[in-house]
Parts: sequence; structure tokens; C-alpha cells
Amino acid sequence: MARPVLLVTRKLPEATEARAARDYDARLNPKDAPWFRDGAEIARRATEAGAAGVLCAAGDPMNAQTIAALPASVKVIATFSVGYDHIAIDAAKARGIVVTNTPEVLSFATAECAFTLMLMAARRAGEGERMVRARAWEGWAPTQLMGVTLENKTLGIAGFGRIGRELAAMARGFRMKIHYRDIQRAPADLEQGAVFHDNDDSFLGAIDIISMHMPGGDATRKWLNAERLARMKKGAIVINTGRGGSVDDAALVDALKSGHIRAAGLDVYDGEPKVFDGYLGLENVALLPHLGSATIETRDAMGHRALDNLDAVLRLNQPAPHRVA
Ligand code: DGY
Repeated sequence: MARPVLLVTRKLPEATEARAARDYDARLNPKDAPWFRDGAEIARRATEAGAAGVLCAAGDPMNAQTIAALPASVKVIATFSVGYDHIAIDAAKARGIVVTNTPEVLSFATAECAFTLMLMAARRAGEGERMVRARAWEGWAPTQLMGVTLENKTLGIAGFGRIGRELAAMARGFRMKIHYRDIQRAPADLEQGAVFHDNDDSFLGAIDIISMHMPGGDATRKWLNAERLARMKKGAIVINTGRGGSVDDAALVDALKSGHIRAAGLDVYDGEPKVFDGYLGLENVALLPHLGSATIETRDAMGHRALDNLDAVLRLNQPAPHRVA
């Protein structure tokens, strides 16, 4: 039987590409050429190849226009990411195209990244690193770069899904208190003593650090705005490894400048790879280039999960294990 044609928009880990090439007539992007930024080009390549599946990634413009331009041969779009806010789900549904993602396998890695940023922000690690690299360090000093400890601080997790819960487990090891905000209360076995808030006011007023784990999209757009920042304690810390669009950048920069927010740690940006100019000149913000899931182990697991989904639809005629539409 002819192998199904699979269009792969990005350069993927070696093991993922090898498996894709073994099981599919795979059209890879081995040099990660930037055609994946252009929805019309993705659709053109899918048409030219007669693709049955598209393996895309976070940030690819799989919007309504791109999906409308895909050929009728496309049965499934599998994203190499847990987030799928870059895919126009309604447009895919309307065309009967299955959409899948890669949940679970990146929860620990993303929580690790949030924890890294939390430590960087609290302990001023970015500033210290920049100082050493600039050869501006003149030696140990009793009052140099004093940060704050995480011990006994209250961590507020906004979005208590798998990633948020992994972060909670790490934070307990640092003797932090855990509070969370979500649409509904989690069962006791997942909560593990974390304090649920059913409203933003009580949540924001109770915490020393907020870590954002909300899905992207219109419902969460600019959720952390000037008003909500003002409700946080003076000296609080903001961490975002979810989606950049859920933070109002101008409001956060103002709060960082005034000192109302002590520090921030960001891994995701509104309209990335663009980064809001206001952050770049601030010492009290640690900026990472969307590294959340970037471990070798996790990226391999994401690739296999994406291929499991594609196999189910295109080779085994089974329901996709991680179908989102
Ligand atoms: C995801 O999977 O949604 C991430 O943002 C990419 O690591």
C-alpha cells in the first residue's frame, strides 16, 4: 500500500523525522526554511504534494485562510505542541479535518522552565549573568544584587492544569504555599492541599508570585492587565510560560518600572518572535526564547505523540488519541 503523504512544516528531532520518513511519504523541512511562517505556502506545498496529513508546530499560521486553502486530500493536522491556539479549530471542523496535539509529555519540562524563571526573577540571576559577561563585576559585596527567597512565599498558579500541577509539586519542595485560580475546583487528589480561589480578587491579593498557565486565544487575551496587576501585592513577581497574549505588555512594563511588580520572568510573547520593546531595557525581567518544552527527552516524546496521532488517522483508521477537533 502506498504510504500516506505527510507535509512536515518544521525541522523536527532526528528520531521523529526518521519515523516519519519510515512510515510516510514525508516531505520534510530539514533546514527549517521559514516557509512555515506563510500560510499560503503551507497550503501550496500541501496541494503540490497531495498531503493526507500536515504535521505543524506551535506558531505556524494555521488560521482560517490557510485551512480553507488546504487541498481536500488533507485529513488531519497534527501539531507538535500542546497549545493549539495557532489553529483555526472551527475552520478545521467545518472541513472535517481532524486536529490533534501533544499533551502530558511536556508538562514537567514546561513547569521546570517556569521554575527556572521564578528563580531567575527572585534571585536576579539574569542581572548577575549580564554583569559577569560585561566584566562589570568587581567582586563579592554584602549588598550586591540582593533578591528574595522563594521559601514560604505564596505561589499563585493561574490555570491549574497538568503544567500548573507539576509546578505546584516542585514548589512544595521549596516550602512554598500553593494557591490557584481556575474555572473550577480540582479534586482533592490533584489539589494536594493547594488553595482554590473562585475569583480573581481574592487570588491576586493572596499571592507573592503569579505563574501563568492559561491557554491562548480571545478568552484570555490581556488577562493580566493594569487593573489586575494593581490588585497584586507590592513587590510581587510575574512568571509567564503559557501564552504571551494573556499579559498586557505595556501594563506589565509600567508595573516593573514603578516597582509595584518586583520582577518578571517570561518565556512567551504576544506576536512572538517579536518581543515588546519595553522589556528589553529593564534589568528586572528575565527573558527566555520560548524554551518551555525544549528538552531532548520532551521534544522526542512530542514527536512520537504527534506521529501516534497521525498513525491513528492515516494508517490505522482509528480515533486519534489526542484529538482536539
Ligand atoms: C506548546 O506545546 O504549546 C508549547 O508552547 C511549545 O513548547
